[in-house]
Amino acid sequence: MELTNELKQELLERAAEARRWAYAPYSNYPVGAALLAESGKVYTGVNVENAAYPQTICAERVAVFKAVSEGERRFIALAVVTVNAKVPCGGCRQVLAEFGLDTCVLVGDPRGNLITETVLRDLLPDAFTPADLPRG
Ligand code: THU
Repeated sequence: MELTNELKQELLERAAEARRWAYAPYSNYPVGAALLAESGKVYTGVNVENAAYPQTICAERVAVFKAVSEGERRFIALAVVTVNAKVPCGGCRQVLAEFGLDTCVLVGDPRGNLITETVLRDLLPDAFTPADLPRG
């Protein structure tokens, strides 16, 4: 499936829309994500915080887990929207890397404007992936 500019823009808009559902009463840092699977379906995610702080989950991981739990394993692009257009955290990069390093990462501002475009491979150099586990 080809990742057109229209599709990129749609993903950024979906991430920006999803962000309104973020549950971030402790950090006040809502994050929205939209993940395009090879099937063509888009899975959104938001960060969900918890009074027991470490139980918080990032928006990107919610999107990945929603997608995988519905049978997806190959991802074309992830859009993430925050107030300051930051790239996904290290933990989320690792979770995404499980399913391939070629996923395009689009970072947007809250209005869905593209700020940074990169690829997971460049965000997680020398990644540890399933290929690194010895097989018995
Ligand atoms: N957060 C994400 O959702 N994604 C990231 O890539 C970075 C951090 C969330 C976790 C927490 O709810 C808040 O942002 C502040 O760290």
